[in-house]
Amino acid sequence: MRYEVDFLIVGSGIAGLSYALKVAPYGKVCILTKGEASEGSTRYAQGGIAAVMYDSDSFDKHIHDTLVAGDGICDREVVEMTIREAPDRIRELVQYGVNFDLDRSGDRFDLHREGGHSEFRILHHKDNTGAEIERGLLEAVRRHPNIELKERQFAIDIITQHHLGQRVTKHTPNIECYGVYALDCDTNRIDTYLAKVTLLATGGMGNVYSTTTTPIISTGDGVAMVHRARGVLKDMEFMQFHPTSLYNPAEKPAFLITEAMRGAGAILKDRDGKEFMQKYDSRLSLAPRDIVARAIDNEMKLSGKDYLYLDARGIGRDGLINGFPTIYAKCLELGINITKDMIPIRPAAHYQCGGIAVNREGESSIHNLYAAGECSCTGLHGGNRLASNSLLEAVVYAHNAAQSSIARINQNTQNNQIPDWNAEGMVLNEEMVLITQTKKELQEIMWNYVGIVRSDLRLRRAFDRLNLIFRETEDLYNRSVLTEPLSELRNLIACSYLTIKMAMARRKNVGLHYSLDLIDDSAKD
Ligand code: FAD
Ligand code: SIN
Repeated sequence: MRYEVDFLIVGSGIAGLSYALKVAPYGKVCILTKGEASEGSTRYAQGGIAAVMYDSDSFDKHIHDTLVAGDGICDREVVEMTIREAPDRIRELVQYGVNFDLDRSGDRFDLHREGGHSEFRILHHKDNTGAEIERGLLEAVRRHPNIELKERQFAIDIITQHHLGQRVTKHTPNIECYGVYALDCDTNRIDTYLAKVTLLATGGMGNVYSTTTTPIISTGDGVAMVHRARGVLKDMEFMQFHPTSLYNPAEKPAFLITEAMRGAGAILKDRDGKEFMQKYDSRLSLAPRDIVARAIDNEMKLSGKDYLYLDARGIGRDGLINGFPTIYAKCLELGINITKDMIPIRPAAHYQCGGIAVNREGESSIHNLYAAGECSCTGLHGGNRLASNSLLEAVVYAHNAAQSSIARINQNTQNNQIPDWNAEGMVLNEEMVLITQTKKELQEIMWNYVGIVRSDLRLRRAFDRLNLIFRETEDLYNRSVLTEPLSELRNLIACSYLTIKMAMARRKNVGLHYSLDLIDDSAKD
C-alpha cells in the first residue's frame, strides 16, 4: 500500500506525540509506532522533568549543573536555549492535560531533587511521571481529527535518492528524505509512506546491552536508519548507565529505582551496609550519574559481588509509601519491604546521549528529516546527561522541529517516483533461533567490553566479535523475508558498531566514556 501525508512521525513517545500536537493544525499527520502506542521509555520515566519554575532557583544554576554533568563538552548555546524554554513547554504539557504533583499549598508544583542538581527542580507525578505524560499526550492526540495513529507499524528504512537508483554516500550533498518504508506487523506487508516532512522519534538503544532499564522496543532503529541512509550521527560512545536498577536478574527490562530516592535521602551502601561514596566524590550518593555508576561498578568488582544496596529507610514509612508508591509496591512483590530492608541494586544501560545529529530546529543532515527525543543528539547532554533533562529536551526539540516543519510544509511536495519495497527473491526465514541467539551474544559482548569501564583491548575485541556477527546477519538478511526481529537485530548491530567506533576514536576520558588506557580530561567546568 502507498500512503501520502504531510507530516510523518515515527514513534509515539513524548517527542513524537508532542510534535504531532503542534503540527496537526497545519496538515495531515500520521504517527507510526511499532508496538502499542503507549510502549516506549517515556511511560517508564519515574523521576520527572527538570525546569526552573520559581525564583528560589535560577536558569543560571540549571545551566551550570547541566554543563558540569556534561563534563565540559555540552553545546552551551543549546543548553541555554533548552533551559530557558523549559517553563513554557511545561505549561503546554499541563494544557494538554498532564498532571504534575502540587505541594501542600496546592498552588505550586512539588519539586524533587536528583543527582547533579544543585536545587529542587524536578516536576513529577509521584514516581511514575512518564506514565502520566504518556497518558496525557496520547489522549490529546487521539482527540485530534488530523492525526492518525497506527500501531504495529515498524519503520524499516528512510526513503532517499538511493531508492530512485542513485548512488548515495556520506559525501552526497543534499540527501533528501521522501518518507519511510514500514512493515505492517499484522500482515507482513511492507508499505510505502510518502511525506513532505518526516520526524524520527524512535527513542533509545538500551537493548544493545544485556542489562538495561529501557523497554524491549529500544533498539536504536532511528539511529540505524539514518546510518544506512548516510546521515550524520554523533557522540554514540556516551551511553549512560543508571546507577540504581533493582537487582532481579530474571527481569527484563531492569526495574529502575529512581534517583529521586537519593534526592530524598537514600544512601548507597556496600554489602556490609557501609557507605562508600565518600571515596569517590564529595557529592556522595548525589554525584552525577557517570561518577556514581563507576563507583558502584568498582565496588562490585573489588568485592566480587553482583549487587550493592540502596538504603532508603531514612526517608521514613510515610515518605516511601506516599512518595514512591510504585517502587514500594514493586519491591514488596519481591519480598523486599523498603521501609525495613535495603534495596539490592546494580547499574544498567539507561540512556543514549548521542544519536542523530540535529541543529537547533531539530533538522538532521538529511533534508526534510527531523529527529527529536532520545534518538537525536542536540548537544544538550555533552558527555553525560543530567538527570531529568531528557524529557525536557524531547519537548523543547519537538516544539522547535514543529515550528521549522510548519514553516516549510507549503514549499515541499511529495515525490511520486518512489518505487515500492522490492521483496523479490527472498525466502521465508525459519531460523528464529539464529536471531535470538545472535542478539544475546551481541548484548553480552557490549556489556562485557563496551560497558561502564572500557580499555583499548576490550574495544578491539568487541569490534572483532561484532564483525563476525555483522557478516552472519547480513547473509541471513539477504536470504530472508524481512521480519521485525531481524530488522531490530540489524539495527542493534549498527548501533553497536557506531558506539565502538566512536569510543575507539575518543582519546580522552570524558563524561560517560571511561577507558583504563586513557587519561582523564581536565576540561571540567
Ligand atoms: P520513547 O518514549 O522511547 O518512544 C519511542 C517510540 O518510537 C515508541 O513509540 C516506539 O514504539 C517507536 N519506535 C521505535 N522504533 C520504531 C520503528 N522502527 N518503527 C516504528 N516505531 C518505532 N528521562 C527524564 O528526563 N526523566 C526521567 O525521570 C526519566 N526516567 C527514566 C526511567 C526509565 C526506566 C527509562 C528507561 C528512561 C528514563 N528517562 C527519563 C529517559 C526518558 O524516559 C527517555 O529518554 C524519553 O522518554 C524518550 O522519549 P522518546 O519520545 O524519544 O522515545
Ligand atoms: C530517575 O528517575 O532516576 C531517572 C531520571 C532520568 O533518567 O533522567
